[in-house]
Amino acid sequence: MRIFLDTANIDEIRQGVEWGIVDGVTTNPTLIAKEGADFEKRVKDICQLVQGPVSAEVISLKWDVMVEEARKLAAIDDYVVVKIPMTPDGIKAVRILSAEGIKTNVTLIFSANQALLAAKAGATFVSPFIGRIDDNGNDGVKLLDEIIQIYSNYGFDTEVIAASIRHPMHVVEAAMIGVDIATIPFDVLKKMFIHPLTDAGIKRFLQDWEAYQKGKEQ
Ligand code: E4P
Repeated sequence: MRIFLDTANIDEIRQGVEWGIVDGVTTNPTLIAKEGADFEKRVKDICQLVQGPVSAEVISLKWDVMVEEARKLAAIDDYVVVKIPMTPDGIKAVRILSAEGIKTNVTLIFSANQALLAAKAGATFVSPFIGRIDDNGNDGVKLLDEIIQIYSNYGFDTEVIAASIRHPMHVVEAAMIGVDIATIPFDVLKKMFIHPLTDAGIKRFLQDWEAYQKGKEQ
């Protein structure tokens, strides 16, 4: 499973890349706004850092303006993937962009039918928002499962990004059903390293080693 970081924060991305486990990045207007950075410059900087797919979202809701915006975003860097919202206009834009070889990530997916339409339009990625589905009293991981089954039934190339991840168990559940990618907030990624028995084990090994060294000195 590939791991994307769901952030526009350069320090978080640099740390993830240094760990050697980050394959790409997803941003959205909320995450960019949180950083207060120039949008295009930030997207370029992230592409240079991560050297993998970097999703940058269009703002327009009209298909023709979306297509123009998408072409400009795609011109920033070869790694840019244009994020398009799941609407009829969005799907029309994805079909046009796909024919031009521009990579797309259809975002705000909340049903299997939406994912089916996005794949039919030639989307490179779809992003089902599993955390927001759970927040709404439904089962986000079940939706991932349905999409994977449908894509496998018909041999769609569209890759599934588990998005809106809230905690490490979401990552485990997504990995268990074979999702292609999970886009993970930095605080969740950090939690994935942690286990109290690992910390206790290290402490014990160091104590035993110290005692052994002291014993040799006597
Ligand atoms: C995905 O690409 C989105 O940026 C993100 O996962 C949304 O997550 P949220 O529901 O925590 O805002």
